[in-house]
Amino acid sequence: MPEEAATLRLGEALAAGASKGLVLHLKGELGSGKTTLVRGLLRALGHGGRVKSPTYTLLEPYGLLRLNLYHFDFYRFKDHSEWLSSGFREHFNPESLCVVEWPERAGDLLAPPDLEILLQYDGPSRNALPLSRSEPGQAWLATALSRWRSS
Ligand SMILES: Nc1ncnc2c1ncn2[C@@H]1O[C@H](COP(=O)(O)OP(=O)(O)O)[C@@H](O)[C@H]1O
Ligand SMILES: [Mg+2]
Repeated sequence: MPEEAATLRLGEALAAGASKGLVLHLKGELGSGKTTLVRGLLRALGHGGRVKSPTYTLLEPYGLLRLNLYHFDFYRFKDHSEWLSSGFREHFNPESLCVVEWPERAGDLLAPPDLEILLQYDGPSRNALPLSRSEPGQAWLATALSRWRSS
């Protein structure tokens, strides 16, 4: 993905097939484009306002037409117990789409995602490696990839 616009476009493609109850994990170093991808996803789901990184707030909630989207960033968790005391577990429910940056900071207690995307630096560009981890995640990825190819 040669530029920011490409990461936004991948996020937009993920709006196709996105639905309630799904969980997306975004992995990759600081600055690899995780928040940018969420920005594209939110825009394509009809969010017209700003998209703030949840680095400090840990959670930014969005009430959208099709669903509730919870955007988490666990970068600032110092250890896994912070996930338990955060009370965020209840947000992972069949009514919500949850997107998590830095899921590894919450450890194994965080439920496995339906879809995981690893973003990597490739010079000035980025690579995105998607991995589906459930049947709904596999269907989501297939839908998103066909949207990506036709976009
Ligand atoms: N495909 C890309 N190619 C080049 N730069 C990108 C790409 N995607 C995002 N960026 C840039 O990378 C920077 C960091 O992005 P951000 O989404 O905040 O990363 P993260 O949330 O992973 O820390 C931003 O300046 C963004 O414009
Ligand atoms: Mg970020």
